[in-house]
Amino acid sequence: MTATIIDGKAYAATIREKVAAHVARLKDEMDITPGLAVVLVGEDPASQVYVRSKGRMTVEAGMQSFEHRLAEDTEEQELLGLIQHLNADPQVHGILVQLPLPAHMNSDLVINAVDPTKDVDGFHILNVGRVATGQAAMVPCTPLGCLMLLRQQLGSLEGKEAVVIGRSNIVGKPMAQLLLGDSATVTVAHSRTQNLPEVVRRADIVVAAVGRPGMVTGDWIKPGATVIDVGINRVDAGGGKTRLVGDCDFDSVSEVAGAITPVPGGVGPMTIACLLANTLTAACRTHG
Ligand code: GUN
Repeated sequence: MTATIIDGKAYAATIREKVAAHVARLKDEMDITPGLAVVLVGEDPASQVYVRSKGRMTVEAGMQSFEHRLAEDTEEQELLGLIQHLNADPQVHGILVQLPLPAHMNSDLVINAVDPTKDVDGFHILNVGRVATGQAAMVPCTPLGCLMLLRQQLGSLEGKEAVVIGRSNIVGKPMAQLLLGDSATVTVAHSRTQNLPEVVRRADIVVAAVGRPGMVTGDWIKPGATVIDVGINRVDAGGGKTRLVGDCDFDSVSEVAGAITPVPGGVGPMTIACLLANTLTAACRTHG
């Protein structure tokens, strides 16, 4: 079997177009321009790339982009002060603090300092609790993007066996909650899971979010399963070059799976599209 390739890039483009059309109407009819503030602390090269592309897509969707770059050795108090300022700024509807933060900062404290109504990442404890209890919430962008791809591919997820590999607060845990919300039967596997390949072989839906290049191979996959690869790993491609690969070994998995997201061009573009959608939602909510 050769898997269908799930085109996240194309789907994300349709979402961004819809967001842009809605933003244009909001401007025309209510004189509101949604604004997204992105805060980057330090020089992490991958984070810099993400922040740049978030800023570009925000502007392309007709929104205002506010970028705040702070030095690696910035005091936590200064970052908290900036967040207070952004919380109070009526032009800012969404706030995203790029993670990871430098080791001297308390990430939980920083995340929970963001006004939950502006928390477009969905990382504030109030939004985490709302997602877990099925209440209206800001939903974390990457798991939301994965859920949209799964619904598009499979229709209903009810009763499907889903295995999420990875238990991070950013992807694995919220992904499990969202799948449960769609009535899938959910297993969260992680680095300490015994017989991991066997556990994954039960799954109709596999979401791989471990950050280990090519870890999931074709022999782990139930024939016909839908595989969502969240990994974005930069590996040596020889000749001084690098390339991006996912957590799945694409060649062997695509021989067995029914459908698979590519890396790049799968989950990544959906994350940014969902971030823009969350920012639009936040702007609509603050203005009734
Ligand atoms: N770092 C990696 N992924 C994310 C994300 O979705 N949001 C933020 N704020 N930081 C990240």
